[in-house]
Amino acid sequence: MRTRLLTLCVMISLPLFAQRNSQIRVYPDRGTEEISRHIYGHFAEHLESCIYGGLWVGPDSDIPNTQGYRNDVLDALKKLQIPNLRWPGGCFADEYHWMDGIGPKENRPKMVNNNWGGTIEDNSFGTHEFLNLCKLLGCEPYISANVGSGTVEEMAKWVEYMTSKGDSPMARLRRQNRRDQAWKVKFIGVGNESWGCGGSMRPEYYADLYRRYATYCRNYDGNQLFKIASGASDYDYDWTEVLMKNVGGRMDGLSLHYYTVTGWEGSKGSATQFNAEDFYWTMGKCLEIEDVIRKHIHIMDQYDPQKKVTLMLDEWGTWWDEEPGTINGHLYQQNTLRDAFVAALSLNLFHKYTDRLKMTNIAQIVNVLQSMILTNGPQMVVTPSYHIFEMFKVHQDAIHLPLDLVCDIETVRDNRKVPMLSVSASKNKEGVIHLTLANIDLNQTNEVTLDLQSHKITTVNSRILTAASMNDHNTFENPELVKPTTFHGAKIEKGQLKINLPPKSIVVLEVK
Ligand code: AHR
Repeated sequence: MRTRLLTLCVMISLPLFAQRNSQIRVYPDRGTEEISRHIYGHFAEHLESCIYGGLWVGPDSDIPNTQGYRNDVLDALKKLQIPNLRWPGGCFADEYHWMDGIGPKENRPKMVNNNWGGTIEDNSFGTHEFLNLCKLLGCEPYISANVGSGTVEEMAKWVEYMTSKGDSPMARLRRQNRRDQAWKVKFIGVGNESWGCGGSMRPEYYADLYRRYATYCRNYDGNQLFKIASGASDYDYDWTEVLMKNVGGRMDGLSLHYYTVTGWEGSKGSATQFNAEDFYWTMGKCLEIEDVIRKHIHIMDQYDPQKKVTLMLDEWGTWWDEEPGTINGHLYQQNTLRDAFVAALSLNLFHKYTDRLKMTNIAQIVNVLQSMILTNGPQMVVTPSYHIFEMFKVHQDAIHLPLDLVCDIETVRDNRKVPMLSVSASKNKEGVIHLTLANIDLNQTNEVTLDLQSHKITTVNSRILTAASMNDHNTFENPELVKPTTFHGAKIEKGQLKINLPPKSIVVLEVK
């Protein structure tokens, strides 16, 4: 992407209601890589209300449900075309013993959820409940298995329990638990954050453990596992180097975690009370992931030039202070237009690395961190981030189109450079081009000229997500304050598109 560096001024001193201009040139015939649908993956951890009360209320609940899953949440999630769902953690995964979560509910032992508020986990949501949820959502399960406090035998038996069709001991146990057919499970994570909550290991030690555990994760009866090693946090390039060197082709995927967060100590800032400077800082921190991705990919390229090992960003998103009044350790946070921008900017840039980066999982799906949905008893609301995933789903499995972008770049707090426009383009199997654009500027419109070269533009349909204030968010009292509407600011002029992007707006264009 080519960008033009113009004025370097502090954002909040910019004149109100001025206008920016940008140019985009898309190359509709030069796309080679498909945007893996798994870039649009999700994550559900046993972090109290993500599972209990969020996805699952149990079949006896007064809240309308299908076999225990909330109907309102199911209906909303189905509209996102979710490709995969990672479970049961996160940090929880390395204390989870799957056998505690099968069989009659009354016999399932309870445990303390040490990572997340010390809540008592009753194991009423276990393997069957998760895999059946994936079936209802039409997504692929991604099992994150326990290395930190679990045995090789335990992991091996879990794989057998889920996927063996034959007369094996674990398949028999599954049948005793009233599930005859094996499930299809492709994605399996061998540990999570093994450098931290997953065992505080050194990369050399974890690399050897990975090799050992992964050996016994067998492919039963035609089920082909895709084995994912626990990867680095943010800027820990040494972890990636050691894993690539010592594990290499024994893994199919290597994970990476990156949160848009102010830091791990002290306050992370309010999810809803922030000013323009905070807003722009957030955009800068979010975009910094591009440099992080590039550096990890560079290391992977040295050891694996054929790109056989996939990079999986299986945790990302914003991390703010917990909502006042909510339970400490449950990571329940609100979600404003600012979070929608983080989702939009992130997805737009992930598309560029789809030859190596083939899966990402925003953290987390319901009631935790940058969630899609918030619930409170019987009430449910979808967040601005949800709307981005719904608007951007058109890119799933489409061919990523290269483009040139000329736009203003500003310097924000911490000397981060932020292009004022974010854009991505793709072409689907029917030849329809989709563009997703985000005008980051809080005050100025951006007059965009879009050149689609040989693509003859006949019709344009578009939707926009914006709000009166950057702090706007959906509440149970006002659930539709931030939602997409039809956009009328794109016009065909002399074979090009002129798009008048309002301040702080995110637009999806369908161009035929
Ligand atoms: O998503 C919340 C937590 O963040 C996960 O449990 C852990 O993997 C990460 O540190």
